[in-house]
Amino acid sequence: MTGSTLLGMGHYVPPRVVTNNDLAGLMETTDEWITQRTGIKERHWVDGNVGASELAEIASRGALAEAGLTPQDIDLILFATLSPDLNFPGSGCLLQARLGIPGVPAMDIRNQCTGFLYGLKTADAYIRSGMARHVLLVGAEVHSTGIDVTTRGRDVAVLFGDGAGAAIVGPTEGAARVIDSELHADGRFAEILMVEAPASRMNPRLSPQMLEEGRHYPKMDGRSVFKHAVERLPEVIHSVLKKNGYALSDVDVLVPHQANLRINEMVTRQLGFAPEKVVNNIQKYGNTTAASIPIALHEAVLDGRVKKGQLVLLAGFGAGLTWGATLVRW
Ligand code: COA
Repeated sequence: MTGSTLLGMGHYVPPRVVTNNDLAGLMETTDEWITQRTGIKERHWVDGNVGASELAEIASRGALAEAGLTPQDIDLILFATLSPDLNFPGSGCLLQARLGIPGVPAMDIRNQCTGFLYGLKTADAYIRSGMARHVLLVGAEVHSTGIDVTTRGRDVAVLFGDGAGAAIVGPTEGAARVIDSELHADGRFAEILMVEAPASRMNPRLSPQMLEEGRHYPKMDGRSVFKHAVERLPEVIHSVLKKNGYALSDVDVLVPHQANLRINEMVTRQLGFAPEKVVNNIQKYGNTTAASIPIALHEAVLDGRVKKGQLVLLAGFGAGLTWGATLVRW
């Protein structure tokens, strides 16, 4: 039966490295606080006016090269981001123009840290149904231009980094395939992690007073997000495994979203899963939201931690709230 598989991947982070000590020069924070609470040591931030589609193009071209394909082979673009280049149109359209493939449908996915998993399930459905052959799925974020880098915004500012990860998803009749995905959302908790302005429910969408109050910056109830993450992630992991007749011991590699090393350590402990089988790279990149899972997965493929034939489990959690888990036979 036709399924979908990841034919090639690519990732990119901008060259500028921002260390915890660099941030300590901008706001009241310390390397010790950030490292202890989050595991993050540094992140990459863009310089100047660089939008998510620019990072996405580099990651996408890498994924195409790895798959041995050209932009002309793509028949659908899925672009997951919470930091689109523009309020509208979507970054998928901008990426399509950058790749020089006018006419190819392009769709944005607004599911934050779970965006790549929502996109992968969508790509899988398109391919299984025969509606598409080669889907370019990309997660890309530029957080650095949208966070409050003063002491007022320090709880959020220290967490996020810029980057992009991409995959070419295509058809397969073989064993290597996306096995199943389970996705969830709970909008009752939308306000525990959000950017409220500019937005349609605000009239005016932005005012000098709102700017002064910093209402255009992300707002987060960190403790609540943490608590939800460590409950929902083990739940969805157990559920997708059970539904597909697997035990946790069948999983060779777990690639979780990189929000906070402490979240991933707690989830790993709660599952009783071997920590050495978990891919974590938040130390280098911070939280790159929709880009975090594909960047971590691609790094693990390149350095040999993910090998052909292995059972790989992807898991994500983020604003929305949204969360999910995807099983892939590599
Ligand atoms: N540097 C130094 N101190 C900071 C700080 C920073 N960057 N950010 C916050 N603080 C201070 C707070 O002001 C507070 O001070 P107070 O005790 O004087 O009031 C103190 O540190 C503790 O803050 P608190 O928010 O209770 O810390 P915490 O232990 O909950 O850790 C997070 C904060 C953000 C690291 C943690 O809640 C977290 O990681 N949550 C999940 C966030 C996440 O993953 N978001 C993305 C989801 S996809």
